[in-house]
Amino acid sequence: LASTLNQNATAWRSAPAAIMIERTVVASLAAAIGCAEFSGSLTGGGSAANLMGLAMAREAKIPANDDGAPTGVLYASTEVHMSIPKAVALLGLGRKQLRLVPVDEAFRIRLDLLEQAIHDDLREGRRPIAIVGSAGTVNTGAVDPLEAIAALAKKYGLWFHIDGAYGALAAIAAPERVCGLHLADSLSLDAHKWLYQPLDCGCLLYRDRAAARRAFSFTGDYAKVLATELIESFGFFDESIELSRRFRALKLWLSWRFHGLEGFRAAIGRDLRHARLLADAILASESLELLAPVELSAVCFRAVHPRWMDDLDTFNAELLRKVNARGNIYLSNATISNRFALRACFTNHRTTEADVAEVVRSVLDAASEF
Ligand SMILES: Cc1ncc(COP(=O)(O)O)c(C=O)c1O
Repeated sequence: LASTLNQNATAWRSAPAAIMIERTVVASLAAAIGCAEFSGSLTGGGSAANLMGLAMAREAKIPANDDGAPTGVLYASTEVHMSIPKAVALLGLGRKQLRLVPVDEAFRIRLDLLEQAIHDDLREGRRPIAIVGSAGTVNTGAVDPLEAIAALAKKYGLWFHIDGAYGALAAIAAPERVCGLHLADSLSLDAHKWLYQPLDCGCLLYRDRAAARRAFSFTGDYAKVLATELIESFGFFDESIELSRRFRALKLWLSWRFHGLEGFRAAIGRDLRHARLLADAILASESLELLAPVELSAVCFRAVHPRWMDDLDTFNAELLRKVNARGNIYLSNATISNRFALRACFTNHRTTEADVAEVVRSVLDAASEF
């Protein structure tokens, strides 16, 4: 329908309904995760939203017009998604300017080492500009201590971006698991992940619309850009890296109207319970080993086998191939503390408890073939 309507959601004058629907959808998303005061826009995905968030950080701390400014330094954990180093590279900040801070045993950024890294850079005369926190890391679903990071960002005058592409939407069902989202300056989330939407439905939320306009203005004439609140410019072209934009909001708006926030809350709650159910089954099995705490809906584990104890990585890699080849369930993989892990991530509203049981059965059956 969006392709057939072919609305260009760039500005009010080209697509008034699409603009209003996108503003409505973005406001609903922000309110649903406890960030009601944020604005934002839909993006192609989490990678684009992360790039835009870091572009805003760079512009806020080292404006592009600021000739000869030193390169800024950014901080994230070693578990951060690869879209963050990619964004740092694309922004021309230099990959080496991203400090990857070690994590604790639950795969959350170590605050003491984060502050130490900031200190070291300040002492060397470098310019820290932003901290990236993960609200649900891609591998294990770990949630960084967002409130404490926000306090550090405030203390040192840094931009705070949260990569919530995978996990921020858990706040709809379990806000206590992702505390502190509202403390970010910018936050990415993916409705095409944990809000069950067809692909091409990411979102960047931000606290200060003027900061977005500064980062994405065409001219760098900030005073003019900020003064332009004419109805013709009431759109997204000056708050986004895109000019021509798809009518991404339509699918989300329709399914939100049909299912209501309650429908999504229930489905996300089920996904969280399914992950717990699988974790409990793994803990109860002598042939399976849980490799990371389960904070959201990602479960990382491996199988053990008496004859393969010297090479469980090869065993599990081959096991993954066998399990997926059966076609009943689909597992991905991750490297957890240098170990090959099987990874089940529950982000499908159609998954049932029987499917969870099938994960355990398929893995144990395939393991017994060795
Ligand atoms: C934590 C996290 N951030 C960012 C991304 C990138 O999102 P996208 O694939 O929508 O660009 C992902 C994708 O898996 C992710 O898990």
